[in-house]
Amino acid sequence: MNDLKKWLLVVGARPNFMKVAPLIRAIDKHNSARHSSPVAVRYSLVHTGQHYDFNMSDAFFKDLDLPKPNLHLGVGSGNHGEQTGKVLIEFEKVLLAEKPDLVIVVGDVNSTLACALAAVKLHIPVAHVESGLRSFDRRMPEEINRLLTDAISDYLFTPSPEGDENLLKEGIPGEKIFLVGDIMVDSLLFHLEKAKKTDILARLSLNADFHTPRALGFSLPVADPVEDPVEDPELRRRELRRRELRRRERSRRAPCSELPASPAPASGSGFSRSVLRAPCSLLQYALLTLHRPANVDNRESFGRIIQGLLHVAARMPVIFPTHPRTLKQIKALNLDPAFEFHDSWNMKPEQYYEDGVLKQKIHCFEPLGYLDFLNVMAHATLVLTDSGGIQEETTVLDVPCITLRDTTERPITLTEGTNVLVHNDPRKIVAEVEKVLGGNRRRSRCPSIWDGHTAERIVAILASNT
Ligand code: UD1
Repeated sequence: MNDLKKWLLVVGARPNFMKVAPLIRAIDKHNSARHSSPVAVRYSLVHTGQHYDFNMSDAFFKDLDLPKPNLHLGVGSGNHGEQTGKVLIEFEKVLLAEKPDLVIVVGDVNSTLACALAAVKLHIPVAHVESGLRSFDRRMPEEINRLLTDAISDYLFTPSPEGDENLLKEGIPGEKIFLVGDIMVDSLLFHLEKAKKTDILARLSLNADFHTPRALGFSLPVADPVEDPVEDPELRRRELRRRELRRRERSRRAPCSELPASPAPASGSGFSRSVLRAPCSLLQYALLTLHRPANVDNRESFGRIIQGLLHVAARMPVIFPTHPRTLKQIKALNLDPAFEFHDSWNMKPEQYYEDGVLKQKIHCFEPLGYLDFLNVMAHATLVLTDSGGIQEETTVLDVPCITLRDTTERPITLTEGTNVLVHNDPRKIVAEVEKVLGGNRRRSRCPSIWDGHTAERIVAILASNT
C-alpha cells in the first residue's frame, strides 16, 4: 500500500505562480506513475493574497492552468512588517488545522519567509525552491527574505551552482542542498508555443506592416542615435527640433525598406528556436518592467532612469506593463509627463507617433498576463527591467536584457546570458541600447540544467525523503 503524504504549496505574489505551476504538474505526474514510488502525494495550494488584483494574480491562474487555491488568506497590502506578520498569523492557523508533512515555498517574497517561519516553528519540514540566490544587498527586502528562508529550510533547491556556493559559505550543511535547475524555465518552455499564439503583438500594433509610411500616412519612425542623455534641457530641445526637421526632410525621400525590423533570433540555447520566430515582421520595440522600491520610491533615482528611457523612446516604442506600485509612484512623484497611459492593450499604430516621429513617451499599460508577457518579451528587440526572474527568462530566450540595478542575485545571467547591469545611469542605459541596435549584443549560452525538468527533480527528491 502507498504511503500518503500531505504537502502544502504556497503562493502569494505574481512571481510565485509560474514557479508553483510546474510543481503541481510534477506532483500529478508522480502520482499517476505510482508504481515507481511507494509515496503518493496529496497537495493543497494556499494563496496568501499578497497580490490580489486580477492582473497580478487571477490572470496567472488562468494562463498557467493553476487549480483554484484550496485556501486563500486574503492578506493584501501593507508595510513589510505588517504584511509578513499577517501571513505568519494566518498561515499558522492553516498549519494547525491541516497538519501537513511538508510546506513548499518558492522565491523571495514576504509570503515566502512568513510561511517558512510559521512552519518551522511547528516543526514542519520546509522546502525552499529557488534557494541560494544572493544580491549581497541587504537593503533589498527580498535579500532578507532569501537569507532567512534559507537559514530555516530543510530542503534547499538551487537553480545554479553559485547558489550552492553561497549556501555552503553561510554554513548550510551540504546534504540539505540540491542543485536542480531553474523552475521558471520549466514554465517558460512549457508555455512558449501557446504564448506565441496570443494576439497581443497585433493588439499592440507591433507588426511592422502597420508602420510603413503608406499605412501611417506620414514619415519614417526612425530616430537618430542619441549620444548624451545628460545635457542642458534648452540645448536638448533645440537639438530635438533640428533632428525633427532633418527627419521630416529625409522622410519625404525614404523608402519603406529602411523601416526597422527585429533582428533574427539566434540558435543554440537548448530548445527549438523556431518557436521564437515572429509570426510576421515586427517593429523594433523595447519592453520595460520597473517596480523595485530602490528605483521607483525615490524621485532622483526614478528621474535618472526616466532620462535614459526617454532616449530609448526616441529610437523605438517602449512598452511598459506597469506594476501597481510604480503607477502609484509616477502619480505621487509627479512624473506623469514622461508617460502616456493607455487604458487598454489595443493600440492604433498612429498612437506611437506625433508629428510624424515616434513620441518621446513611455507607453504604460495594465500588467500583462503570463502568456501575453512571454510573447511580448520573446519578440522584443531588448528588455529593460529591474525584475529578478526576467533576467533569467531573457537569458533562455536570448533576448538582450538591460537590468536597471547595480547588483543581481542571478550572476549566471551576466556570465552566460544576455544580461548587463546599468543601475539607474542614463548614459549606461543609452550606451547599452545603442550596442544592441548596432548589432553588438551579447548572446546567451543557456545553462544545461535549465532544461524544463526542474520540478520533476524536486518532486522525486522530496518524495523519496519526506
Ligand atoms: C513583490 C515582491 C517582489 C516581487 C514583486 C513582483 C516582496 C517583498 N516583494 O513586490 O519580490 O518582485 O512582488 O510583483 O514580497 N499592489 C496592488 N495590487 C496588487 C499587488 C500590489 O495595488 O495586486 C500594490 C500594493 O498596494 C503596494 C504595492 O503594490 O502598494 C506593492 O505590493 P507588495 O506586494 O508589497 O510588493 P511588490 O512591490 O509587488
